[in-house]
Amino acid sequence: MGLELNAATISLLLLLASTATAATRVFDVRNYGAKPNFDITQAATKAWKDACAYPGSSKVVVPAATYRIGTVDFLGPCKGPIEFNVLGSIHSPGDPKYFKGDKWISFGRVDHLTVSGTGEFDGQGRTAWGRSGCSKTSYCIHLPISLRFDYVTNSIVRDITSYNSKQFHINVLGCQNLTFNHVTIKAPETSPNTDGIHIGRSTKINVINSKISTGDDCISLGDGSRDILIQGVNCGPGHGISIGSLGKYQNEQPVSGVRVIGCTLTNTMTGVRVKTWPDSSPGSASDMHFDNIIMNNVDNPILIDQGYCPWNQCKPQIPSKIKISNVSFKNIRGTSRTKEAVQIICSKALPCTNVEIRDIDLRYNGKDGPATSRCVHVNPLIGGHQNPPACTIKTITKA
Ligand SMILES: *[C@@H]1O[C@H](CO)[C@@H](O)[C@H](O)[C@H]1NC(C)=O
Ligand SMILES: *[C@@H]1O[C@H](CO)[C@@H](O)[C@H](O)[C@H]1NC(C)=O
Repeated sequence: MGLELNAATISLLLLLASTATAATRVFDVRNYGAKPNFDITQAATKAWKDACAYPGSSKVVVPAATYRIGTVDFLGPCKGPIEFNVLGSIHSPGDPKYFKGDKWISFGRVDHLTVSGTGEFDGQGRTAWGRSGCSKTSYCIHLPISLRFDYVTNSIVRDITSYNSKQFHINVLGCQNLTFNHVTIKAPETSPNTDGIHIGRSTKINVINSKISTGDDCISLGDGSRDILIQGVNCGPGHGISIGSLGKYQNEQPVSGVRVIGCTLTNTMTGVRVKTWPDSSPGSASDMHFDNIIMNNVDNPILIDQGYCPWNQCKPQIPSKIKISNVSFKNIRGTSRTKEAVQIICSKALPCTNVEIRDIDLRYNGKDGPATSRCVHVNPLIGGHQNPPACTIKTITKA
């Protein structure tokens, strides 16, 4: 029976042709010499280069096995959408002396990047945490950040795990429209400076449905963070979800548009906070909203601290010049590990404006209870249920 080229057959052939051109080309690191338990720095770099140069959808695959990899920069621009799919466990060099710069793996200037897979990036941090110069009081400047995203746009990071980074797990700089979905971050509570995701100078960054347990902030937002959504994140142990610290450096960009929604914090050192340095350069942080958050046994669950000055690195008597405005804390409930469950401590020079506190229920079960709240240089709009009673202690003095 001959093939009749009727309309249905022709459209089927056209469909097959179009899916063939749309098919993703796979670049498996094994085809570039990668072998389990060996170093794949070269293999992964070559696979990325070929994938990035491929004029269509491409996918670099790291199969399910353990591999070692040194410092690598996966750079764009690429000719088409590119995926980095990790099914195995990628291990960092253990010795911190190996690292010359501040990163282990970076993705830079890529558009339409997807980092995916059920695999993990293991920073082998245990070898670094105990070292001198990496205590609680000094920044581990010479230790690498596990994953850096620099100037990455319209991209997705999903399902991967970052384990035991030496310094921050993930750093986002200069990015636009980047979503972290269902990401797991894991390091011990005692590991220093292991922030989960740090975001700075970036727009439209989403962190959703993710679980972060680490030794420092679960998520921290630096200057120039705009249009940030943090939703469905489980944080703890760790230092909570933090905006700032702001104002330490000259020419910082404003923070604006941050929504933290439907998150749970458990056994964290702080809950949701905004912190700015006293004696700071001028700046602003506005339009920040915290809604529907559960606190389980959290120290300082709600905190604005415009006198943030750890280890006496500043002149605390000179007020912060960062203007904080349009902030809301709504529907925040659970247990506080500290008596002063709500602290809104604003700058004497620039009091916070348009702050709303609504439906708070934070219980404190210590002998010196019940929970209290403190408002300094702020006159918040209060609504709904309030436990502790809003602004139990209130201080407003003329600047
Ligand atoms: C943001 O990035 C996602 C993922 O690549 C993409 O689907 C979406 O279209 C982008 N949004 C805009 C406004 O470009
Ligand atoms: C604060 O919110 C008000 C109204 O809700 C808006 O008009 C104003 O532009 C906002 N200011 C900032 C700095 O976001």
